[in-house]
Amino acid sequence: MTRNFITGEEFGAFELGKLLERGAELKAGRGEGVGRDSLAGKSIALVFQRPSTRTRISFEVGVAELGATPIVLRGDEMQFSRGESVGDTARVLSRYVDAIVIRSGSHEAVVELAEAADVPVVNGLTPLHHPCQALADLLTLRERFGDLDGLRLAYVGDGNNVARSLAIVGELAGVEVVVAAPPGYQLEEGHGVKLTGDPRAAADGADALYTDVWISMGDEIEADRRRADLAPFRLDADLLAAAKDGAIVLHCLPAHPGEEITEEVLYSDASAVFDEAENRLHAQKALLEALLLA
Ligand code: CP
Ligand code: NVA
Repeated sequence: MTRNFITGEEFGAFELGKLLERGAELKAGRGEGVGRDSLAGKSIALVFQRPSTRTRISFEVGVAELGATPIVLRGDEMQFSRGESVGDTARVLSRYVDAIVIRSGSHEAVVELAEAADVPVVNGLTPLHHPCQALADLLTLRERFGDLDGLRLAYVGDGNNVARSLAIVGELAGVEVVVAAPPGYQLEEGHGVKLTGDPRAAADGADALYTDVWISMGDEIEADRRRADLAPFRLDADLLAAAKDGAIVLHCLPAHPGEEITEEVLYSDASAVFDEAENRLHAQKALLEALLLA
C-alpha cells in the first residue's frame, strides 16, 4: 500500500508527533547536513497547476537537501492541459518518480491522481485542504511552546482550506482549534473544532491567533463581497490584546496587510509568520522521509 498525504488524516497522533520531532531535528541539524542522503537516488515530481512561492521552493529545496532529484512541472506544460487524463498522468509518473507532490484547483483531481498512482501523492494545496501548511504550523507552535497538547489556536476569517487542515491536523496533536467566521464563510463541524461568529470570543485565552487571505485562489470573482463580509474579522492589535499574554500570530502567507491582518500585527514581535514559512521546508522534509522510508 502506498501512503498518501491528502488531508492529513493519513497519519495517527503518534506518527504525527514523530514527524514533528524529525522536522525539528532536520531544522537544528540543517547546517551539519542532517538528512543529507536520506532519499538519495529518488526522484520527486512537483506539479503546480496554481501559483506558489513557499510550497514550490520549500519542496524543491527540501527534496534536493534530502539527496533526491526534484522535477518541477507547471500544469500548463504537461499533457493534461491538452486533455490527457489525470489517471494516465498518475500511471505514467509512477513509472518515473518515487512520489508526486501536486497543487491543484480541483481536490477531486488530486484524489483521483492518488487512486491511480503507485507512488505516494502529497497534496500541495487544493481548494479544500492544505495539510503541508498545517504541519509547518504545528512545528512552529512546537518550537514556541514545547508541548502542543492543550494549546488553543484561534483562526479568524475565511473558513477555508487552511482552516480545515488546521482543524484536522490540530485535533491529532491535541490543539484546541477555534474558528471565528461570519455566516457563509464558516467551516463545517467536525474534528473537534469549535465554531463561533465572534472573533473576540475565539481570541480569548488563545495561545496563537491565525488568519489567512480573504480571497483564496479561485475566489477572485467574489473579491468585493468577501472584503466587505470579512472586514470585522481582521486580525488587528485589539484582537491580539484579547489573546493570552505571549500569544503568537500565524499566517500561512501570502499576506495582504490592511485586509485580513494589519501591518502592525503582521510585523509585530508576536508574529511568527516567517519562522512558519521556513518551517514548511523542515516539516515537508520530515513528511517525505516518513512517506518514502517507511
Ligand atoms: N502558504 C503557501 O502555501 O504559500 P504559497 O502559495 O506561496 O506556496
Ligand atoms: N487559502 C489560500 C492559501 C494560499 C497559500 C488559497 O487557497 O489561495
